[in-house]
Amino acid sequence: MMTTGTVFLIDDEESMRMSVSQWLSLSDFHVDCFADAQSALKQIDAGFDGVVVSDIRMPGMDGLELLRTVLQLDDEIPVVLITAHGDIPMAVSAIREGAYDFLEKPFSPEILLETVKRAGEKRSLILENRKLRQQLTRVSGIEGKLLGNSDAIQVLHREIRDLGPTDASVFLVGETGCGKEVVAQCLHEASTRRDGPFVAINCGAIPENLFESEIFGHESGAFTGAHSRRIGKFESANHGTLFLDEVTAMPPNLQVKVLRALQERVIERLGGNQLIPFDTRIISATNSNPLKACMAGSFREDLYYRLNVAEIDIPPLRKRASDILLLFEYFSMRAAERYKRDIPSLPSEAIAILMAYRWPGNVRELKNAAERYVLCSLPARDRISYILQHTGIASAQGSSLTEQMVYFERCLIEQSLRRNQGNIVKVMEELDLPRRTLNQKMQNHGLVRKEYAEGRQ
Ligand SMILES: Nc1ncnc2c1ncn2[C@@H]1O[C@H](COP(=O)(O)OP(=O)(O)OP(=O)(O)O)[C@@H](O)[C@H]1O
Ligand SMILES: [Mg+2]
Repeated sequence: MMTTGTVFLIDDEESMRMSVSQWLSLSDFHVDCFADAQSALKQIDAGFDGVVVSDIRMPGMDGLELLRTVLQLDDEIPVVLITAHGDIPMAVSAIREGAYDFLEKPFSPEILLETVKRAGEKRSLILENRKLRQQLTRVSGIEGKLLGNSDAIQVLHREIRDLGPTDASVFLVGETGCGKEVVAQCLHEASTRRDGPFVAINCGAIPENLFESEIFGHESGAFTGAHSRRIGKFESANHGTLFLDEVTAMPPNLQVKVLRALQERVIERLGGNQLIPFDTRIISATNSNPLKACMAGSFREDLYYRLNVAEIDIPPLRKRASDILLLFEYFSMRAAERYKRDIPSLPSEAIAILMAYRWPGNVRELKNAAERYVLCSLPARDRISYILQHTGIASAQGSSLTEQMVYFERCLIEQSLRRNQGNIVKVMEELDLPRRTLNQKMQNHGLVRKEYAEGRQ
């Protein structure tokens, strides 16, 4: 039989233990009874997956002391205290010390059940998020930086591992917010230059008259206002990587100079007369089609081919829908940590909305949505409409219903696999699917059990 959760019930009075445990057992809780705090404590550790319900007044260690000891083990274990009738000041101080809630004697079975259920749900959520956090912190390197389970992300990881260690100039193409800068940093970290600098310059954001000094540097007195020598980006990225972001927006007269610098492998500071060799790997990026910019004449074709020894296309988020939930959970977890908030649960309606949305701002937009979701203090259900309004999801043109349903199904199975670390029996139970159907669906969605098994790198 499936249980709703575990409850440790501690009371020195046998009759109380009997009645309370009976009520809870009738609602499918698994109840362990203890006559004193010490013997319960022996079985509680930091990962305790349940709720502690304890009387306050007991001989030996009392409920408040038990509360303190439990919270020292893990301050997120919910402890519900049972207080004598009229002992409100005691109850209030217990809450202040971190008790989850209190029940004033005599209490009805409904109140008990409702409190314990709420506490149990909160606990499961906390443990689940801890597990996720652990999984996410266990992965390091590229996998820990460029997150995602989709095939597209796996391909990116491979391309980064293949191209990273070469000195080849890589050209990244992808919509806004889809992770071009993350990929550029991963390439840098996968290279032998990883101990050198990673220097980024946004070619679309620098006024044309400053561009040359920004990128090549200048000597003092090179122009009015140039009081001292300045080192340009090419030089400061020496022995490292220079990331030319929005490269197609580079002013045309500068394109010639950059091309020449790349061909000769030397630069000249503005107002200087010395040729300075540099050893810098170039990674460029654009969110618009570079060939179109070439055809329109705004981007030099010879520069494009010099920068594009290898091209990496980063697909938009809507084309790798199986990453949406993982990233959303990851960013809410990070935001919850940063703002010291609880990690809100994600009801299935919310998941469906997130999956169906087209995410024109890609991962950046998703990250913002996850942060707002954590910071929003509305109850879970209203939070969803809040996200809806604030990301314009409501007006979004989704993909077809069938496509969305396929995504959604894949995502739910994937989530369950991850939660249960690839334990098929648990997934069958959770999704209430016969083995054959589950296998079939996993096969259709290209999901492989092994990839979710514990200890996977
Ligand atoms: N796969 C990913 N895993 C984790 N974080 C990601 C991933 N992709 C993107 N991000 C995060 O999303 C945000 C946007 O990513 P990034 O700045 O790399 O996008 P971009 O393609 O350079 O965007 P733009 O075109 O607007 O410059 C960043 O905060 C980045 O850390
Ligand atoms: Mg960027």
